[in-house]
Amino acid sequence: MENKIAVYPGSFDPITYGHIDVIERSLKFFEKIIVAVSYNTRKKYLFTLEERVNMVKEVFKDRREIEVDSFRGLLVDYLRKKNVYIVIRGLRAVSDFEYEFQMALINRKLNPEIETIFMMPKEEFFYISSSLVKEIAELKGNLSYFVPEIVEKKLREKFS
Ligand code: PNS
Repeated sequence: MENKIAVYPGSFDPITYGHIDVIERSLKFFEKIIVAVSYNTRKKYLFTLEERVNMVKEVFKDRREIEVDSFRGLLVDYLRKKNVYIVIRGLRAVSDFEYEFQMALINRKLNPEIETIFMMPKEEFFYISSSLVKEIAELKGNLSYFVPEIVEKKLREKFS
């Protein structure tokens, strides 16, 4: 088992400053973070899996301590494949709690070796979510507080 590595799973549709803050904070505890972009056939995404992965890669280019990968199916199966059993999730408002608590416990039930660690993002990123970012992009609002330039460009292209 690899204890110095953690997996940060999510949809990243698209990656925001909130996610980036969680990744940077996690690197205080882990030598490497694997950002695992998920694909679920039942979910409707704005960006394709490839686009979501490429945006994360672009944001973290030249950062050897951050690996970007993707997975389909159960997170527990992906973790087993990578031989990593620590999951990072960001926790913002109380509203996140129920869903996150449920997910962490289900993952632990499916594999008792798995531990989920919750990171609290910086206050200024507390209210950022990918869904609100998409809404702002669609309504042509200012995105610079929420996402890096490269993501902003991709969002503008989607809604142009
Ligand atoms: O960014 P999101 O959409 O909140 O991320 C949710 C994600 C991808 C971490 C979660 O849906 C997930 O782990 N999906 C993989 C399928 C799975 O393992 N489901 C059971 C966990 S409860």
